[in-house]
Amino acid sequence: MKKRALITGITGFAGSHLAEFLLENYPNIEIFGISRWRSPKDNILKILDKLTLFECDLTDFNSVLETLKSSKPDYIFHLAAQSFVPTSWRMPVYTFNANVIAQINLFEAVRILGLDPTIQIACSSEEYGLVLESEIPIKETNPLRPLSPYAVSKVAQDYMGYQYFQSYGMKIVRTRGFNHTGPRRGEVFVVSNFAKQLALIKLGYAPPVIKVGNLDAVRDFTDVRDMVRAYYLAVSRGKPGEVYNVASGKGYSIREVLDRLIRISGLDVKVERDPKRERPSDVMRLVGDYSKFHKDTGWKPEIDFDTTLKDTFNYWVEKLQVVVKKR
Ligand code: GDD
Repeated sequence: MKKRALITGITGFAGSHLAEFLLENYPNIEIFGISRWRSPKDNILKILDKLTLFECDLTDFNSVLETLKSSKPDYIFHLAAQSFVPTSWRMPVYTFNANVIAQINLFEAVRILGLDPTIQIACSSEEYGLVLESEIPIKETNPLRPLSPYAVSKVAQDYMGYQYFQSYGMKIVRTRGFNHTGPRRGEVFVVSNFAKQLALIKLGYAPPVIKVGNLDAVRDFTDVRDMVRAYYLAVSRGKPGEVYNVASGKGYSIREVLDRLIRISGLDVKVERDPKRERPSDVMRLVGDYSKFHKDTGWKPEIDFDTTLKDTFNYWVEKLQVVVKKR
């Protein structure tokens, strides 16, 4: 019997990688996605004919209801979000609508229609926020001390997942993803941003100066292709009601990330601190313990960090070359 999977955020970074992963590895899964009328489709161009897309905005309840009525999914991967932390200080209401209200609409539509899918929700390591040195590597039991409106919105999504499981027995698995990156990552996020700046310099379109924010922060990076494999394992082997860290277990300072990317690019660049890239309160150190997820699903990261960085840099060089050739 064919299974049906609905991916919210399918036109985005992780969503498009997840769709590709499922198409390649699970041909018995039919894939449905949602997109808004103006969502760019670049990330899914190569697989568009293998997907069924619904015009839907998660903040519009009617469209969510219609999408679920038509797709009747066995699995829902809820990846759509306002995911950029700095934007959440400038647009907290938008962030709460896109993350919290949207998820209420999704859960309520499932409940009202009496559907019984397994639902993975993309929660975040940002929820841990202010982490003490003695708490590293972070376990799921760590206190949540969120430091941005984005992080608070993810705490709300996370606890809403817990509550709908307890109240209605909905099969919700919460993944607390630590940073993930790779090709197609939005250009505002640190690895992608640095890689894009370096690609512009490499191609001769920018002077050899790279702008940076806080280089002292430490993050735990997983390749997006490992991350989406984790999402599938979460719905197929994870326990409903549970919360799981998905992480590599290794921490790198952003300075180290920058140095590695510069080495990969082979360039000689000047590093310039840009105060506009600083945050009202930055999360200083996130390194995750993923042993609970490994125990329940067997998942572990497979792609090493330098491969991810190289692939991201090459992605930008190729993309920018095409843009320039088209001019
Ligand atoms: N974006 C950005 N740009 N970040 C910079 C820069 C820069 O020029 N320079 C230094 N940083 C630092 C940030 O201050 C932060 O400490 C770190 O690099 C990572 O920033 P982001 O890539 O923007 O990611 P994030 O850690 O804030 O959030 C990401 O990971 C979360 C999981 O922990 C996002 O993907 C979230 O959606 C996700 O939930």
